[in-house]
Amino acid sequence: MTNYMQPQPYEIISVKHETDIEYTFRIATDIKPEHGQFLQLSIPKIGECPISVSEQGDGWLEFTIRKVGKLTDVIFQKKAGDCLFLRGPYGKGWPMDQIKGKHLFVVAGGTGVSPVRSLLNYCVKNEDFVKSVSLICGFKSYDSVLFRNDLEKWNEKFNTWFCLDNEEHEGFNKGFVTAYVDQLPLAAVKEAGEDYAVVVVGPPPMMKFTGIELLKNGFEEEKIWMSFERKMSCAIGKCGHCRIDEVYVCLDGPCFPYTVAKDLVD
Ligand SMILES: Cc1cc2nc3c(=O)[nH]c(=O)nc-3n(C[C@H](O)[C@H](O)[C@H](O)COP(=O)(O)OP(=O)(O)OC[C@H]3O[C@@H](n4cnc5c(N)ncnc54)[C@H](O)[C@@H]3O)c2cc1C
Ligand code: FES
Repeated sequence: MTNYMQPQPYEIISVKHETDIEYTFRIATDIKPEHGQFLQLSIPKIGECPISVSEQGDGWLEFTIRKVGKLTDVIFQKKAGDCLFLRGPYGKGWPMDQIKGKHLFVVAGGTGVSPVRSLLNYCVKNEDFVKSVSLICGFKSYDSVLFRNDLEKWNEKFNTWFCLDNEEHEGFNKGFVTAYVDQLPLAAVKEAGEDYAVVVVGPPPMMKFTGIELLKNGFEEEKIWMSFERKMSCAIGKCGHCRIDEVYVCLDGPCFPYTVAKDLVD
């Protein structure tokens, strides 16, 4: 019998340098996660950490990883043909049943674009899945922009606001993502008597202030979803590392309704 906690080796197909500190690893595997779920990535004797699935296809998954510490430093030395160890998928992904057939609003920042990338690309490939997509996507600077090919595609298909925190650049607005929330076409959706869902993901302060801004602009909190990152160990609800009060981020999340997420925001 397979031990589902036992990481298995999978071959790296390719490594794409998104920025100096963020690489996308495409790994050969038949694992089929839901959009927004994560896997535990590891290297024996070095460590293990949770990483969101940033895209998926026939026989492969992509993980977009920021080089921040002990394990990710070693992962960044790996090349096509080497192996990474995986277990999962884990957690609750985006609520596809709540999103289907509605207008989708997405606000994402930095590496937070990663956990919504496969959902956005699913909407590109399946045009009838949602009525429309409006996407606000922010990065610190032009050098830290991720998924440039996807941004072009999303710009063609969706209503988009791409922003850079403090920089002027062609094709980008200057300022934080929160500055563009009032431009989301919520009034038109409400006037048409149609329904919507909102997905927010990014660093904790960005999610906190985006939540406040959304409510200020008339979005209802039960239609907002957020994805959280917390230190994890087991990823299956046993060790308590990810616990905040009664909530286990690994089991109950990482994608939460805002009604729960608002109490998890630091
Ligand atoms: C559900 C989920 C999904 C995630 N998805 C992604 C993803 O898609 N891409 C991604 O890049 N990351 C993602 N993460 C975050 C990733 O798991 C962490 O960055 C992980 O800790 C990296 O492991 P590491 O060993 O390389 O870094 P670590 O060595 O654990 O370091 C991580 C950070 O913590 C700091 N740190 C480490 N030890 C200490 C200490 N003793 N005191 C103070 N600070 C310390 C480091 O300086 C660094 O900033 C996700 C996390 C979760 C929970
Ligand atoms: S990581 Fe162990 S309980 Fe969530």
